[in-house]
Amino acid sequence: MRQQAGGNGSARRRLVVGNWKMAAGAAQLDELSAIAAAAARVAADVVICPPMPLVPLAGGRGLGVGAQDCHHLAGGAYTGCTSAALLRELGVSHVILGHSERRRDLGETDALVRAKAEAALAAGLLPILCVGEAAAERDAGRAEAFVTGQVAAALPADPGDRPLAIAYEPVWSIGTGLTPTPHDIGRMHGAIRRTLVAALGAMRADAVPILYGGSVAGGNAATLLGVGDVDGLLVGGASLRARDFVPIVDAVGGGPALLAA
Ligand code: PGA
Repeated sequence: MRQQAGGNGSARRRLVVGNWKMAAGAAQLDELSAIAAAAARVAADVVICPPMPLVPLAGGRGLGVGAQDCHHLAGGAYTGCTSAALLRELGVSHVILGHSERRRDLGETDALVRAKAEAALAAGLLPILCVGEAAAERDAGRAEAFVTGQVAAALPADPGDRPLAIAYEPVWSIGTGLTPTPHDIGRMHGAIRRTLVAALGAMRADAVPILYGGSVAGGNAATLLGVGDVDGLLVGGASLRARDFVPIVDAVGGGPALLAA
């Protein structure tokens, strides 16, 4: 597998994820060819997470396809929900879980996120576990304890060697144009990494990419990717249009040819 040094020098392939939320219609799929062309020239996996009905239409276009959620059970009488296994059947590779909008609007708890992560792993999907503090926790100086608590509580019990990712998304940064300083992001990602080491052991933890998300844009992507322990980006608003997302993808740099070894 091709890999690239992550922010701390470890061998983790970078991951750039576009979260289209509920902001996309079918016409949005036209953006994917330019995004795929950018993805082909950088050393990262680039994954688009469209609204659920667009998932089958987003495949076969040169990009990874992710979902924005899945149910925590394998199947049954759960109106309106989608199982991880069906997503896998449709060619989905990644699933965002525990996004702060779902925690806020639908009351998703760490325990539910953990159950969803376990369902995703069982189905062969790569779960992207979202964590992040609200402004109140940051102002009270409790951001690190809050976020690492979320990580510890939402991690699947026994992931084994199956791949998973964490996305650190400060709630106050999402859609606001505000981001933490690179120093603060580096500290938080370091704390998350230590939490992963405590839970999974050093070798396993080292393989888990930690993404940053929240107001990522073409103008700040390179800076964010340069922060130690930042292994990729989770992008909302700026992933909707190729003209905004392509500069973010390009900020990864390092074409595939450089990675052949
Ligand atoms: P944003 O959203 O990039 O629009 O801030 C990020 C997210 O919610 O994943």
